Amino acid sequence: SPLLNVMTAAALKAAKGLIRDFGELEQLQVSKKGPADYVSRADRRAEEIVAGELQRARPAYGLLMEEAGTVVGSDTSNRWIIDPLDGTTNFLHGIPHFSISIALERDSELYAGVIYNPVSDEMYVAERGTGAFLNGRRIRVSARRKLQESLFATGIPFMGIPDHQLLLRQLERVMATTSGVRRYGSAALDLAYVAAGRYDGYWENGLNPWDIAAGIVLVREAGGFVTDLAGGRGMLKGAGILATNTGLHEDLLALVRPSAITAATGSS
Ligand code: IPD
Ligand code: CA
Ligand code: CA
Ligand code: CA
Repeated sequence: SPLLNVMTAAALKAAKGLIRDFGELEQLQVSKKGPADYVSRADRRAEEIVAGELQRARPAYGLLMEEAGTVVGSDTSNRWIIDPLDGTTNFLHGIPHFSISIALERDSELYAGVIYNPVSDEMYVAERGTGAFLNGRRIRVSARRKLQESLFATGIPFMGIPDHQLLLRQLERVMATTSGVRRYGSAALDLAYVAAGRYDGYWENGLNPWDIAAGIVLVREAGGFVTDLAGGRGMLKGAGILATNTGLHEDLLALVRPSAITAATGSS
């Protein structure tokens, strides 16, 4: 569709810069946003390219971006949500697992999402009501229904973010009952992998809208189900995220929801 073409063109253009910078990591000016939360010139340059391309194509739309913040548009029903480089820690360590994530929110609902991994050249796209695609081929969530046979992903919060105890308890419960847990370091790709049926589910505590907005559209359009960690709809409000192939949703939610964990351990 014209909309997805605009989004994929912006991602591809920014990806060229990222690949160039990935080859010359010493040249990047890196600074800290928090104790282990880094940002580099690559993040900022990619964001400028994505925002510039999207604004050229749809001048009235608003933007929400990780690095530059918010731009209010004259068209208040459409807003881009952009993570120009998801997986900055991987990127800065030379680990080839990172992505560009672009979502469109329309009338306060997530409407379209594009996630691009420039190293593997995998382009994931989804627009509401039309399915999810990887490099032009339809993707669907997995069909697994048994926790013991299922593979999950999560994320580990940055140093200084007070979720470690919760995550350790969640891991303990998920490790004991499933085929395994992965932590690859890009929330956007974690969601894309759920959409592609590679992971059977993914959860993470906290997160910002730009980490997950595009991925949520992908998982839904691939037949999956997404909630926050209380089973509600607060994913973009920092209430955590749980994305599964739908069939495993209740089972995984029962393992990782904070209320179940505090009840099981008797602590508050
Ligand atoms: C991070 C990644 C990571 C997640 C972190 C995010 P960034 O985004 O998505 O997987 O665990 O919480 O902040 O900073 O690399 O764009
Ligand atoms: Ca970041
Ligand atoms: Ca991110
Ligand atoms: Ca980022």
